Amino acid sequence: MADNKLWGGRFKEGTSASVEAYTESVSYDWQLYREDIAGSQAHARMLARQGVLTVDEADTLCSGLEQVRREIESGSFEWKKELEDVHMNIEARLTEIVGPVGGKLHTGRSRNDQVGVDFRLHAVRRLEDWSAALVRIVDVLARRAAEHQTTLLPGCTHLQPAQPVSLAQHLLAYACMFQRDHERVGDCLKRVRVSPLGAAALSGTTYPLDPDFAARELGFDRAFTNSMDAVSDRDFVVESLSAAGLVMAHLSRLCEELILWANPQFGYLRLPDAYSTGSSIMPQKKNPDICELMRGKTGRVYGALMSMLTLLKGLPMTYNRDLQEDKEPFFDADKTVHASLSIMADMLARIEFVPQAMEKALEAGFLNATELADYLVGKGMPFRQAHHASGACVALAESLGCGLADLSVDQMRLAGADVQDDVYEVLSYRAAVERRVSPGGTGPESVRAQLGQVDEWLASRVVAE
Ligand code: ARG
Repeated sequence: MADNKLWGGRFKEGTSASVEAYTESVSYDWQLYREDIAGSQAHARMLARQGVLTVDEADTLCSGLEQVRREIESGSFEWKKELEDVHMNIEARLTEIVGPVGGKLHTGRSRNDQVGVDFRLHAVRRLEDWSAALVRIVDVLARRAAEHQTTLLPGCTHLQPAQPVSLAQHLLAYACMFQRDHERVGDCLKRVRVSPLGAAALSGTTYPLDPDFAARELGFDRAFTNSMDAVSDRDFVVESLSAAGLVMAHLSRLCEELILWANPQFGYLRLPDAYSTGSSIMPQKKNPDICELMRGKTGRVYGALMSMLTLLKGLPMTYNRDLQEDKEPFFDADKTVHASLSIMADMLARIEFVPQAMEKALEAGFLNATELADYLVGKGMPFRQAHHASGACVALAESLGCGLADLSVDQMRLAGADVQDDVYEVLSYRAAVERRVSPGGTGPESVRAQLGQVDEWLASRVVAE
């Protein structure tokens, strides 16, 4: 018997238990109950407005749905796998509560447009939370950068010491990444906030629906354009996961640096105890496990994006049950990206940077070799020749086991660098940073300007706590 199914009319035999377990989605899509109820209420009100239902019928449906919500939130609601998904579980209970009028709710609607509404409303809520978490991490980075405008450390390319930079400049680079992420999520939201309600199964319906009214009621920016596209479009999930993937890429890069910097061979920072773990065998260990896990969890989010892209490839029009597989990757990625952003912000706020260790590290790696070349250019030497002469001084200092500033004027001259006593001023690391006056560079003025821009950006947004 198939009478326990809302779609059971044409079936003589019930679904086998293994198929029921294989096809159900209520074990995870129950999380969409709020959106499902809001979507149904908007649909009922729209039907009443269009004269398809009476106002009384719509009121009964809406208050019945409120009761379902209360039951779910109080824990008394019984989710049934045999009812497949969140939509049918709620509708079945609604009908128990309000009687046969419950059967009118689905007029002019299909689960195909219904699930799109639910998922999009949910995605809007989640992406707004990602945005708030992104604002918060930018805020923390900006505050830490403001504290460390005069802290210097080796800036690297190829993970080799390259030129000195301020810690503020380094941290603000990450602020830029997360600001871009914020912009990306906002851009993606424009395409999430489109209501598919009224597309019905795939081709629209014979009832005089008003999709724009439903869209407005639900807070969407607009209604769909084409019913077939509306029920099969999951681009918004791909875009959300792609934005999430980049957030994780940025977090993972930051994690990698924090892990390196926490290593005593760098010693640039001390992680708060609350954000580190110990070893069960080596008593001295303080491990950066949080950063490692976050770096590792990046793979899950990339995996979610890959699942979605693969899911959509080759799907014929319009709704196909494959699409039910869209939710778990999103739920999982959402949990990961949101938790990672907030934990990273909390941890960054409490990391203890060690400026002395950073400044000591400036001594290794001839970070002032570019300064020497620029000094020679200032004296009229073509840059290529100056580069060569500075390189020869590096080789000499390396062979003597000292720094460039430890070479005498005569030694530098012998190596082909025509210097005078004033060379030692430019060889100081602090001078190297202070002289970097180009826009967006690490010089103090530029860093102040960048901080000003971030502050302005933050002021126009609410910082989530
Ligand atoms: N649980 C389904 C999903 O998540 C709802 C839509 C089902 N539609 C259908 N025609 N079977 O996609």
